[in-house]
Amino acid sequence: MIPILRTVADLRAQVRAWKAEGHVVGVVPTMGALHEGHLSLARAAKRDCGRVITTIFVNPKQFNNPDDLAKYPRTEAADALLLSSVGVDLIFAPDVEEVYPDGFATSISVGGVAGALEGEMRPGHFQGVATVVAKLFGMTQADRAYFGQKDWQQLQVVRQMVRDLNFAVEVIGCETIREADGLAMSSRNARLSAEARGKAGALHAAMTEAAQAIRAGMPEADCLTRVGAAVVAAGFEKVEYIALRDAETLGPVADPARPMRMLAAAWLGGVRLIDNIAV
Ligand code: PAJ
Repeated sequence: MIPILRTVADLRAQVRAWKAEGHVVGVVPTMGALHEGHLSLARAAKRDCGRVITTIFVNPKQFNNPDDLAKYPRTEAADALLLSSVGVDLIFAPDVEEVYPDGFATSISVGGVAGALEGEMRPGHFQGVATVVAKLFGMTQADRAYFGQKDWQQLQVVRQMVRDLNFAVEVIGCETIREADGLAMSSRNARLSAEARGKAGALHAAMTEAAQAIRAGMPEADCLTRVGAAVVAAGFEKVEYIALRDAETLGPVADPARPMRMLAAAWLGGVRLIDNIAV
């Protein structure tokens, strides 16, 4: 059975031993309730690294909504089986007190890229993400860290932090894994009713169509408006944002020769879904 460590001291001892044997160590940070999206990151890590750690920690600091934190699914036993099946070497699943002991007083605030979109809609969210990811890097001492493009802005925030703070970790961004109808896999999809689940593919379909239209030279504002109208017509309650941005800075597109990204957040059946695609 795959070992599950709970303390930083035990984790450090194991990683020291692996590094003494000359292994490259990879980490896949997660909040658990694992699905194929997470497992694809673990598989990529296994391909590149001699030893792979998956962290499972539902980080209270990145939830701006207490109800969302309370409802977050926790499925550790099932997660351990899945991670074993892809050959992950170790799970690090600390308690909240191990990560944020009494007196914890530091917070990492990434500027620029963290300010827009999710940063505007979820105040404090990226501060929570950056703080815990920095801690997970410090705790695991990993050489390589794997993140999903599903959370595109999060990936850019992590890259910015690693650059700015000189962390000795290489960040690898992995493709979004989708259901057959295009819905990006997410732990939150389990909260969709059967009826809502049937409509959820409309978001990716509308974004894909708009990306094609933009590439074909149609005015971008019209294309984005049409995404909003299409998903509302499909039964979504509302679109929080739908935007075309510079893929790296997430600022407005200043130079169309640089990679662009379309990003959206929308509500369906009381569940907040996010997605993004290359344009
Ligand atoms: P979580 O939502 O559990 O996601 C863990 C990792 O899996 C993230 O890098 C996320 O982008 C990736 N992921 C999720 N769904 C995916 C999909 N459909 N395809 C590819 N990758 C996918 O993101 C977090 O946790 C947290 O913010 C964390 C980074 C662990 C910090 O607490």
